[in-house]
Amino acid sequence: MIWTYAALALLAPSAHALLRFSCSQLVIERLDPLVNPGALQSPHLHQIIGGNAFNATMDPSVAPSDLATCTTCTFSEDFSNYWTAVLFFRARNGTFKRVPVKGNSGFESSQGGMTVYYTPTLRGTAKVTAFKKGFRMIVGNPTYRTEAEAKRFRQLTYTCLENILTRTGETLDFPKKPCKAGIMVNVRFPTCWDGVNLDSPDHMSHVAYPASGTFESNGPCPSTHPVKIPQLFYEVIFDTSKFNDQSLWPADGSQPFVWSFGDATGYGNHGDYVFGWKGDALQKAMDSNCNINCPQLKTQSIAAGNKCAQKQKVKEDIDSWLPELPGGMPVQ
Ligand SMILES: *[C@@H]1O[C@H](CO)[C@@H](O)[C@H](O)[C@H]1NC(C)=O
Ligand SMILES: *[C@@H]1O[C@H](CO)[C@@H](O)[C@H](O)[C@H]1NC(C)=O
Repeated sequence: MIWTYAALALLAPSAHALLRFSCSQLVIERLDPLVNPGALQSPHLHQIIGGNAFNATMDPSVAPSDLATCTTCTFSEDFSNYWTAVLFFRARNGTFKRVPVKGNSGFESSQGGMTVYYTPTLRGTAKVTAFKKGFRMIVGNPTYRTEAEAKRFRQLTYTCLENILTRTGETLDFPKKPCKAGIMVNVRFPTCWDGVNLDSPDHMSHVAYPASGTFESNGPCPSTHPVKIPQLFYEVIFDTSKFNDQSLWPADGSQPFVWSFGDATGYGNHGDYVFGWKGDALQKAMDSNCNINCPQLKTQSIAAGNKCAQKQKVKEDIDSWLPELPGGMPVQ
């Protein structure tokens, strides 16, 4: 897939170098090696993409690329894992149906999954330091239910898609009207690192936002977190279109979608990352400032990525009309 500048301008205004690629779904299951390491089932359901070394325990001293035998990502040296929660439609009778995920523009044949971006810098040519073996982080907080809370994070948003290329009108809460082409969840991680810790007890304190300005305005990193890292960004497109008949929506006119962790507001949006690129492939790509098509990196087809899938380790029905959210997560 060759991206033209016209298409790129629509997708990522003012970007001058970035990686943008597709990773298909690896598995949808209740597993969380960051928040609930070792647990056979985490409290809420996740959709995971990336390398097939994903597991209940992921030892930071072992490179995922040494364990994995395949990845769902089109950059085939990327054995990282990326995950978000899963969206459900709640019917008037109180039952839940999982909302399917569809491929993004240019990646239509992707079986679910996400579009992943690594952006070194939007202005100038500042060098960024790629994530290192063992690095992991989380952005967002699944317990948040208010706008004030959600504003503690920057850029965790929703785009109500009029069509697959809609990129305006991001909101911090779920769209309140039917979205013709689906709801896109946007998860952007902080871009400054303390330069020392690969992780932290809350999986967040080792990274930070720029001290002033923004990533987009090339704002400086704070002295506590002086190292610029690429902006990691997920786009996940939930195909809500078959739930758009408003006679099925709550009688009080509120929107019907609920995160798998029981959030009907959208303010609890969050994403998780375990770095797993092979060797220094990501650093090389960042240093070369390559743009979308990155000749420095090895690739595979979307079809090949679709074939790399895991089975749920604990089998669980996630696709029927369910009387409750998986794991019995209450909506609150
Ligand atoms: C996951 O961990 C279990 C227990 O340590 C191990 O037996 C299994 O091989 C691992 N699976 C993968 C895909 O790494
Ligand atoms: C609940 O509503 C949905 C959507 O209208 C329907 O498909 C499902 O069969 C209903 N379930 C029950 C138990 O009534």
